[in-house]
Amino acid sequence: MFVETGRRINYFLKYVFLKNYCILKLFMIYCLMCTMKYVYIKNVKIAKTAVSAPLADVGDAAFRIMAKRFGAAYSIGEMTSAKGLVFGDKKTAELLKITELEREFGTPAAVQLFGSEPESMAKAVEIVLSHPHDSPELPDIIDINAGCPVNKVVGTGAGSALMKTPRLFGEIVSSAVKAAESLNKSVPITVKIRTGWDSGSINAVEIAKIAESAGAAAITVHGRTRTQMYSGKADWGVIAELKNAVNIPVIGNGDVDSAKSCMEMYRQTGCDLVMVGRASFGRPWIFRDIQNCITKGESPMESAPSLKTRLGIMKEHIELSVKLKGERVAMREFRKHAAWYIKGIHGAAALRAECMSLETLDDINRLITRLIPEEVY
Ligand SMILES: Cc1cc2nc3c(=O)[nH]c(=O)nc-3n(C[C@H](O)[C@H](O)[C@H](O)COP(=O)(O)O)c2cc1C
Repeated sequence: MFVETGRRINYFLKYVFLKNYCILKLFMIYCLMCTMKYVYIKNVKIAKTAVSAPLADVGDAAFRIMAKRFGAAYSIGEMTSAKGLVFGDKKTAELLKITELEREFGTPAAVQLFGSEPESMAKAVEIVLSHPHDSPELPDIIDINAGCPVNKVVGTGAGSALMKTPRLFGEIVSSAVKAAESLNKSVPITVKIRTGWDSGSINAVEIAKIAESAGAAAITVHGRTRTQMYSGKADWGVIAELKNAVNIPVIGNGDVDSAKSCMEMYRQTGCDLVMVGRASFGRPWIFRDIQNCITKGESPMESAPSLKTRLGIMKEHIELSVKLKGERVAMREFRKHAAWYIKGIHGAAALRAECMSLETLDDINRLITRLIPEEVY
């Protein structure tokens, strides 16, 4: 009888402990969710962590998936020509593809269009939104590029050249917004700009106000002028000024390279979201550093994963790429990513040259095995 009573007490205590443990865990998750703030771009709910920047020739589906897997708030596809899309160019349409894999994380997926004609921009928006509601390919946000500095784009009056033609810029945004509304799809149109064309024509605030009146749902500002390209320092002061001038969410961008600088940008500019570009090359875990810092209140330190972990992440990235593009294309395109992943490790200069001749998944596996011999891949 004593044994039976003892067993019952034992069960009871276990039950109470387990129940309390679950309640405690649920409570902790709830607290964590409370600390996670959200930003709304129209009706799209976005965690206030960091956005993965649009990156032509870098930010393909595999790159975006890696960014999301490490906690990017949302991703934006590579800039895509509105005109090319309207002309039915297949390669152009490929750039806009959003795969099921990218949807697995539940975070929004945006695409980006560039162009200099309101009519073709409107048609391109219609094409982009022609996917059914339940298709993974229907983007959550369409972004308009008014920041690209390269001659090929600027020469057509698109990209950052639009900073010099505010009226045309307004017409382009307005036609994109109207096209989206006419289809009765609540997909927001956002814009990405620079601070101005050059240091003598800083007009980001004026351009942002035009975008807002034309119906843009959010604005990203990269704190450099067109003539700066990617050199010099990003001017966060203009981002702060712009944030005070408009009522739509403002996404700050430029030179954020760690959780610490991300927190600094939030603090200094008051922006609603921060966007990270180059610092995520070969370092997708930067998004986790930022997320941990914001949601768990961890000190803004770089996690600096071990070589083994880094190479494991690189392997995951290339395998994804091969799955999505096939080995031949994926390997060629992955060479630059491989060089970024191994940056800073002993003998990186020679390894970088080796990365440029990678042809197959076996080549990558051999490289990894050589760098961490105890691992069998
Ligand atoms: C290789 C590369 C490709 C880029 N492609 C795009 C693009 O397609 N669309 C765009 O709006 N910005 C593009 N950008 C600009 C970035 O999105 C971002 O604004 C810029 O790199 C500054 O942010 P960061 O200091 O975090 O890198 C590109 C930048 C780089 C370096």
